[in-house]
Amino acid sequence: MTLYDRIARIYDPWSRSVREDVGFYVDQALASGGPVVELAVGTGRIAIPIAQAGIEVIGVDSSPGMLAVARSAAEEAGVAERLDLRVGDLRDPPVPERVALVICPFRSLLHMESEDEKLRALRAARELLLGDGRFVFDVFSPSREDIADTNGRWLEREPGIFERADWDEGSRTLTLSVRADDAETSFGLHWLSAPEWLRLLDEAGLAVEALYGWFDRRPFDADEDMIFVTRRRPR
Ligand SMILES: C[S@@+](CC[C@H](N)C(=O)[O-])C[C@H]1O[C@@H](n2cnc3c(N)ncnc32)[C@H](O)[C@@H]1O
Repeated sequence: MTLYDRIARIYDPWSRSVREDVGFYVDQALASGGPVVELAVGTGRIAIPIAQAGIEVIGVDSSPGMLAVARSAAEEAGVAERLDLRVGDLRDPPVPERVALVICPFRSLLHMESEDEKLRALRAARELLLGDGRFVFDVFSPSREDIADTNGRWLEREPGIFERADWDEGSRTLTLSVRADDAETSFGLHWLSAPEWLRLLDEAGLAVEALYGWFDRRPFDADEDMIFVTRRRPR
């Protein structure tokens, strides 16, 4: 059982307020023409709106529980035939197809603990791309204020769903814990600075077309959020 299997049934209510990224990724998918590969697709929070926009999505996730939620949500939304869900690791995705767009939304790459693992994930994403296809993802690096505001406190994020952030600036790890009546989990998110991401992307053979600071496409300005739009560089 993965750490996300334990909270698969509460993931959607827990992340209910996170909507700002959906339109951004749907626009990327429409511009690509599809199909799209979403790495760490989860419950389909992004993939289902993309499928509803008429684009086919191959979604990979290591959590069968999250994929089961995605499958029933896709059926309910009437787009199950556009969503091909596969259990697998994003560092070695079970995807022989090559596509114009790969996405990895909602900070999922931060599940990769070391720089080596992150590089492996970036290389795997690049491998999935056609010619000059794009890989688009978002990550964060916390501000001092964010750490001070949230560190070590249980906050009721949604009714009956509590979240706690424990920040370790030494190892640059956020341990995020979630609990509700009948579900709980805890996992690490391992952040890097923008220059470190730029170096890894270069090593992975991905050229950065844009680095935004938010989903409204404002330029990155040393804030917390980073949204990378990258393009496969020929070797
Ligand atoms: C924050 S959720 C994001 C889900 C979805 N992309 C979204 O935007 O709501 C992170 C997802 O990453 C998945 N995950 C974590 N490590 C993974 C790995 N090594 N390979 C594939 N999926 C992984 C988890 O199972 C979980 O569904």
